[in-house]
Amino acid sequence: MQDIVTDTAQLNAHLYDIEHQRPEHAADIEALLDLCFGPGRYAKTAQRLREGNEAVPELCYVAFQGEGAARKLVGSLTFWPVNIGGVPGLMLGPLAVVPAIRGQGIGVNMMRRGLDDAKRLGYRLIILVGDEPYYVKVGFGPVPPGRLTMPGPVDPSRLLFRELDIGALAHAHGAITKPVTG
Ligand SMILES: CC(C)(COP(=O)(O)OP(=O)(O)OC[C@H]1O[C@@H](n2cnc3c(N)ncnc32)[C@H](O)[C@@H]1OP(=O)(O)O)[C@@H](O)C(=O)NCCC(=O)NCCS
Repeated sequence: MQDIVTDTAQLNAHLYDIEHQRPEHAADIEALLDLCFGPGRYAKTAQRLREGNEAVPELCYVAFQGEGAARKLVGSLTFWPVNIGGVPGLMLGPLAVVPAIRGQGIGVNMMRRGLDDAKRLGYRLIILVGDEPYYVKVGFGPVPPGRLTMPGPVDPSRLLFRELDIGALAHAHGAITKPVTG
């Protein structure tokens, strides 16, 4: 007998497409982020790890819904290279979905795609700043207190991690910084 699918993300996956970001999406992505986060997004501590850094092109996604002239950009997700207390890894975010169509699994499915691709690319560890009750859906959990520090104030309960290589967090101690080069 076939399993009954109860996962909203799986049930609705056919209602939208997830693609890699391209330069022509930039204006629509900016408008989506302004809508979802407002101008305060530039003041967030995570932004300090994005300024002067470059997102990983293979790990930048957009979601589209509709067809033909009605096709619209409805979601966006970006991953950034960071050094996680000595472990080269990624920071997830921003993640945003147009308010009118939230709850269809677009956010979770973009993240699942990103996590699969990141693992394939050899990344071992991902961090983010966000709501644990949401990100637990894709396996994130709180960083143990005192283990890692961000380059500015962050509510410690919102600093989350996800291992792509089991045990990777054990090697991470101290500051989360932009990638160490050279
Ligand atoms: C967070 C966001 C990306 C989710 O997008 P989405 O496509 O609606 O997400 P999904 O459909 O994959 O998941 C929806 C589920 O997550 C839950 N959820 C959404 N945001 C949540 C949150 N902050 N905390 C806990 N649960 C949350 C919804 O209630 C829903 O639950 P259900 O499946 O039990 O009904 C979207 O709400 C958004 O753009 N918010 C504004 C920007 C933002 O806060 N981004 C995250 C930064 S930390």
